[in-house]
Amino acid sequence: MRMYDIIMAKRLGQVLTDEQIRFAVEGFTRGCIPDYQMSALLMAICFQGMNEHETAYLTDCMARSGDMIDLSPIPGVKVDKHSTGGVGDKTSLVIGPIVASCGVPVAKMSGRGLGHTGGTLDKLESIPGLSVDIGKERFFEIVRDVGLSIIGQTGDVAPADKKLYALRDVTATVDNISLIASSIMSKKLAAGSDAILLDVKTGSGAFMKTLDDSVALAQAMVSIGEQMGRRTVALITDMDLPLGHAIGNALEVVEAVDTLRGHGPADFTEVCLQLASNMLLLAGKGELPACRAMAEDAVASGRAFAKFKAMAAAQGGDTSVLDDTAKFPRAPIVHEVKAPQSGYISHMDATRCGIASVALGAGRASKEDAIDHSAGILLHRKTGDRVERGEVLAELFTAREASVQEAEQMLLGAITFAQERPAPHNLVYARVT
Ligand code: URA
Repeated sequence: MRMYDIIMAKRLGQVLTDEQIRFAVEGFTRGCIPDYQMSALLMAICFQGMNEHETAYLTDCMARSGDMIDLSPIPGVKVDKHSTGGVGDKTSLVIGPIVASCGVPVAKMSGRGLGHTGGTLDKLESIPGLSVDIGKERFFEIVRDVGLSIIGQTGDVAPADKKLYALRDVTATVDNISLIASSIMSKKLAAGSDAILLDVKTGSGAFMKTLDDSVALAQAMVSIGEQMGRRTVALITDMDLPLGHAIGNALEVVEAVDTLRGHGPADFTEVCLQLASNMLLLAGKGELPACRAMAEDAVASGRAFAKFKAMAAAQGGDTSVLDDTAKFPRAPIVHEVKAPQSGYISHMDATRCGIASVALGAGRASKEDAIDHSAGILLHRKTGDRVERGEVLAELFTAREASVQEAEQMLLGAITFAQERPAPHNLVYARVT
């Protein structure tokens, strides 16, 4: 078999055989197929597309290119959750404890923030002492004892995706539904859960800006999951504006704690409850309304918050900051951003809000950068709110005095004012099964 013929077949719009796909993925991962040939194939895929079977087979080959995590030593149905990424998206910190406190084990491997979006690991590490690098044995032990653990990736999960993503990034071939779906799902399949809940974000802060594209991506991922024997459901949730009020690591942990204690922001609480209910459904806990009631009770009873604290303690975290969130280290500079005019906030570009937060030190420009856990933005007003000129729109938290003006301008540039009240936003647009 020759890579040349595989590239030509796809260039001519033919359906690739399983053998051709396996040859390309295995050869490229081993280093036998050069970047220039794989780039040509990726570009041909962008122009000619892949059908559902090709996409699922590609995903399977990518998943099997490295370690396949075996979660079977942990009893019960394991359900994973994946978000396509957003600004202020701290849902894993709330959903994990809710679901675990309802008796469903949560063994989750999460990622770090990159670009304008945050990452669960960085948020967790803002709890003093908490480690997300505890090794597989301890991870399994905590899931068995506590029911919940969230760590960084262990082993070599889906190395084909790492190599392919790096190539796509520099050859203008990221933006294809089959390639995105196979990239995300290869990592989820290798992570070993029995069922997968996908939170596909849509809007100005999301990877997918339009509802149509978000639904298409969700359908492609659900199809892959189901073809690979994993029950998979996707919710399309709003990311046209930041979720909740907090953007930045420790600020988001505080908001997650508030939510677990039953007094979080309404939008964030609702999205968490819908996601948690769907995870419980996937775990076989009952129909959706019963699962919703279970999730609400987990919060109201305090069980979900207790579960979060138990996980934090097991991973070495100082839980006194969770009992009294005023103890979180506070940024030395707190700057108020005031409304330049009166009116309604008609739009808030979530990506630009995320970039402003990165400028304050909450995120990294490259993988090696250190982050400031106390940096970020607390939004006092969001899309749909009426504001008067001079009213505080947000507080900026940072140690970088030189970045305050830049971040303030970015944040103000992200906000559009209007005299008319804008139509309310949906929080969840669709459920794809
Ligand atoms: N996230 C991924 O993991 N892969 C993509 O291709 C896009 C977003």
